[in-house]
Amino acid sequence: MFDRARTRPPGAERAVLVQMERQGQDQAAELAELRELARSAGVIPVAAVGGTRRKPDPQYYVGSGKAEEIRNAVAREQAAVAVFNHELSPSQERNLQRLLNCRVLDRTGLILDIFARRAQTHEGKLQVELAQLQHISTRLVRGWTHLERQKGGIGLRGGPGETQLESDRRLIAGCIKQVQKRLHKVQQQRAQGRKRRSKAALPTVSLVGYTNAGKSTLFNVLTGARVYAADQLFATLDPTLRRVELPGAASVILADTVGFIRDLPHDLVAAFRATLEETRLACLLLHVVDAGDPRHRERSEQVNQVLQEIGAQDIPQIEVYNKIDLLENGAPRLERHHDGSVKRIWLSAATGVGLDLLRLALAEHAAGQCNANRDERETVELEDHRLAEAL
Ligand code: GTP
Repeated sequence: MFDRARTRPPGAERAVLVQMERQGQDQAAELAELRELARSAGVIPVAAVGGTRRKPDPQYYVGSGKAEEIRNAVAREQAAVAVFNHELSPSQERNLQRLLNCRVLDRTGLILDIFARRAQTHEGKLQVELAQLQHISTRLVRGWTHLERQKGGIGLRGGPGETQLESDRRLIAGCIKQVQKRLHKVQQQRAQGRKRRSKAALPTVSLVGYTNAGKSTLFNVLTGARVYAADQLFATLDPTLRRVELPGAASVILADTVGFIRDLPHDLVAAFRATLEETRLACLLLHVVDAGDPRHRERSEQVNQVLQEIGAQDIPQIEVYNKIDLLENGAPRLERHHDGSVKRIWLSAATGVGLDLLRLALAEHAAGQCNANRDERETVELEDHRLAEAL
């Protein structure tokens, strides 16, 4: 079992978590996910404050009574940060910071922080940096219009506040341009490298799934690779490609990609477009689902939503119900659609049961549909390699 305590940096910050009930959401499960996210960001959740609220309060997101409760929890627990499982407006974040006397992080900020910790390659780091800058810039812009609205009447134009904001915006816009330029260069190099090494076209199959579903574990057992798999959210950030030999001498390139999550911030989806390109260009998606997770249906839906956002909704999918070793009557099996194509496979990447079914399904697909679509899709190189390491 993965020991999270050992991976936590010494002197990790203590965090109070805030989770207000959202309509139709399972409060306990949401809080459990927030706890995981906070741990993945390297903080120690020491207390949680919950409640219900129909409409966010403009000042603090929560009501003033709840804000007071959070303040007491922060003081009592000597927390350095309050983590909200919601999107906060810049002014709410500022007001809360002032009231709670600690740092305040919202859901997007938290996910950005985790991504910043996980990115390993030059390209991955640049993508996260770009997303962070874009996130800051939208907040600055929003803060700016907010101030502008307050400013109102005649004779109030200009002044130090406006100058400061303007120069901050210019500075950030400049940084964004620079990072975009560097990223563009890296991506061009990557594309050239790929072309050079490309000797033959092989269909690409991309693993997608909610974070922690077991994509990397499955990737490792199918390819014999040793990608970092951990009971940690977003353990994989950089795309990895490997060739998989299939029964009947067929083979495909398998791509492991970033895990998806509910409300994946738009800035991040945009910034990771290039990484997700492997998914967009795949001829088949293996949608890995944690079969032991009581919320797996909802999470599959969320994965499909992100796939739609990146334009990958029409790529054929096989659902891989993983972790059947955790189910009471978990037996490996294969289900088909009416047209005979494979719909779902039940297996365990950890114990290996059902992997033969998946290999057969991949071979079947490679022989059929993948070949039909091959010419229209980009080709990837034959050599086994970590895509990013090729830079
Ligand atoms: P992200 O990088 O966050 O997207 O995660 P991932 O989907 O790549 O998941 P990963 O392979 O890192 O696995 C997450 C956890 O689930 C790890 O602790 C794995 O050991 C565990 N796991 C994966 N497959 C199985 C399985 O078949 N059975 C059981 N019991 N555990 C599994």
